[in-house]
Amino acid sequence: MTQSVTSAAASGAASSASGATSPKRAFWSSRMAFILAATGSAVGLGNIWKFPYITGENGGGAFVLVYLLCIAIVGIPIMMAEVLIGRRGGRSPVSSMGILCQRDKLHARWRWLAGIGVLASFLILSFYSVIGGWALSYVGTAGTGQLSGQSSESIGAIFSGLLADPGTLLIWHTLFMALTMLVVARGLRGGLERAVTILMPALFVLLLLLVGYAMTTGYFGQAVTFLFQPDFSKLSTEGILVALGHAFFTLSLGMGVMMAYGSYLPKGVSIARTSILVSVMDTGVALLAGLAIFPLVFANGLEPGAGPGLIFQTLPLAFAQMPFGSLFGTLFFVLLVFAAWTSAISLLEPLVEWLEERRGLNRMISTLGAGIAAWLLGIGSILSLNEWSGFAPLGMFAAFEGKTIFDLLDFLTANILLPLCGLLVAVFVGWFMARQALENELSMGGRSFALWYGVLRYVTPIAVAIVFIYNLL
Ligand code: PHE
Repeated sequence: MTQSVTSAAASGAASSASGATSPKRAFWSSRMAFILAATGSAVGLGNIWKFPYITGENGGGAFVLVYLLCIAIVGIPIMMAEVLIGRRGGRSPVSSMGILCQRDKLHARWRWLAGIGVLASFLILSFYSVIGGWALSYVGTAGTGQLSGQSSESIGAIFSGLLADPGTLLIWHTLFMALTMLVVARGLRGGLERAVTILMPALFVLLLLLVGYAMTTGYFGQAVTFLFQPDFSKLSTEGILVALGHAFFTLSLGMGVMMAYGSYLPKGVSIARTSILVSVMDTGVALLAGLAIFPLVFANGLEPGAGPGLIFQTLPLAFAQMPFGSLFGTLFFVLLVFAAWTSAISLLEPLVEWLEERRGLNRMISTLGAGIAAWLLGIGSILSLNEWSGFAPLGMFAAFEGKTIFDLLDFLTANILLPLCGLLVAVFVGWFMARQALENELSMGGRSFALWYGVLRYVTPIAVAIVFIYNLL
């Protein structure tokens, strides 16, 4: 792959000359490579596993509508802001923030915004790897033909059997984390780019195929109604918070991931167009997953609000019944693993970069340290599915009643840390960075710039703050 030598390379070199510990920066080989990598981070378990089940739990259409709104007025403006920070700073998220503060004479404490993000990505990685492990184990289940011809009950039993067995879960979690660490230890370009170039389109095609199958079940119309006909009586205020949190989660925002990837983006590439494209693809995959899954839910009399197991109890049904089901099933779970893998890599990357820069550790040691720590925390999530399922560490607070370690990590990250970090990004870029700098970096037309700037300054922070405060009270 060719290294793109652009003015960005020059400015990257200049800034690394001024900062002693900064490693040489590589750049994406093209705009396309950035798009694929950012999409690789964005498209993951959040789209295929989490979106359908939280949609089911929150009653469908109204939730989807709020989620789409959050993507448009909160997600896209913040993604642009994060990529902008990354490209302008040209370093890891924490250092980029430091550089921008220095340049614009802002308080260095703003750096902590990226710190919250690094913490959030670490916490997410710990349970993300456990779910990635479920997907891995289903590659085996589908591949060995265990799904073919099964009834809905026996497919449910396969899933509950997996969750009840901490030893098996641990093996798959370990394998998933090891795969993630392997790529991160080798650095950015050593395979990540090439992998996403092939895998993301393949995942898309397979999802389309599943949607095609779902159309034959006779329940497609009911699923479309469920997903797109809003019934606001089914939406709770917590549902709105979940939709907002998910907009951050699914676009990989509020964690510095897009800052980190943005720092590799050549100058001259349009941040706006690129961010919109990534968001649209991400949303498209989530909606396709919904259209593939809900017809099966209704056709088989399953519960839309079944929770985290939803896709593992519905999609296998399709594979059990369709021709060449074992083949398609295996392929699907392999692609799901890849989607999860590219996301997990982007979750581990910020912490590893931080350890390298701040603690002066080499990449290998940083990866091992961060990966093993996340793996250990993941064991807590595994146990909360079985042995510790009745254990609610913060159960004494009404808000956390009945929440297991797994639930708590999910809630704390998606509903608190990510929106908080996103809010700070919006305020930092919208109110503190010099307007001229933003105009230079975005090089958009006057009107589009004004639209983005206005939304980022007013609409985004107010929307996030209202949802937040409303939920706290
Ligand atoms: N966006 C990923 C998903 O939807 C999850 C993720 C979040 C990845 C944050 C990286 C950073 O699965």
